Amino acid sequence: MKEMIIIIRPEKLEKVKQIFDEAGLGGISITSVMGCGTQRGLETEPEMQGIKASVNLLPKIRVEIVVEDDKVEEIITDLRDKVATGHVGDGKIFIRNVEDAVRIRTGERGNKALY
Ligand SMILES: Nc1ncnc2c1ncn2[C@@H]1O[C@H](COP(=O)(O)OP(=O)(O)OP(=O)(O)O)[C@@H](O)[C@H]1O
Ligand SMILES: [Mg+2]
Repeated sequence: MKEMIIIIRPEKLEKVKQIFDEAGLGGISITSVMGCGTQRGLETEPEMQGIKASVNLLPKIRVEIVVEDDKVEEIITDLRDKVATGHVGDGKIFIRNVEDAVRIRTGERGNKALY
């Protein structure tokens, strides 16, 4: 299993939920975060044009999903297709290994706990 941590623009959340739904994924966790990438949150990001910020952090949405290994590439492709605007600040995907999962209700483990 892999955990995908997907950082996106807040306005792209609906698109991500749609991808999640269509791919038949088992669960999703979402938090609202502040962050910056290589531009350090400066005015090159559209939402910051004309605003003088003393702190260079922008609102982003962090999505966490744990999926079976062979779903990862399909999700990356979908995200690139539906979430990219081509402008800086589109976000990033981090992928890490997940050792195990447990559905608390039933005790199911691994992939069986996901779906
Ligand atoms: N290395 C990182 N570690 C943790 N979070 C990151 C990292 N890079 C980006 N992020 C998060 O992703 C958000 C969006 O990053 P962003 O898309 O601006 O990355 P970038 O590398 O600057 O790419 P681009 O040049 O396309 O803007 C940041 O606001 C931050 O929350
Ligand atoms: Mg950036």
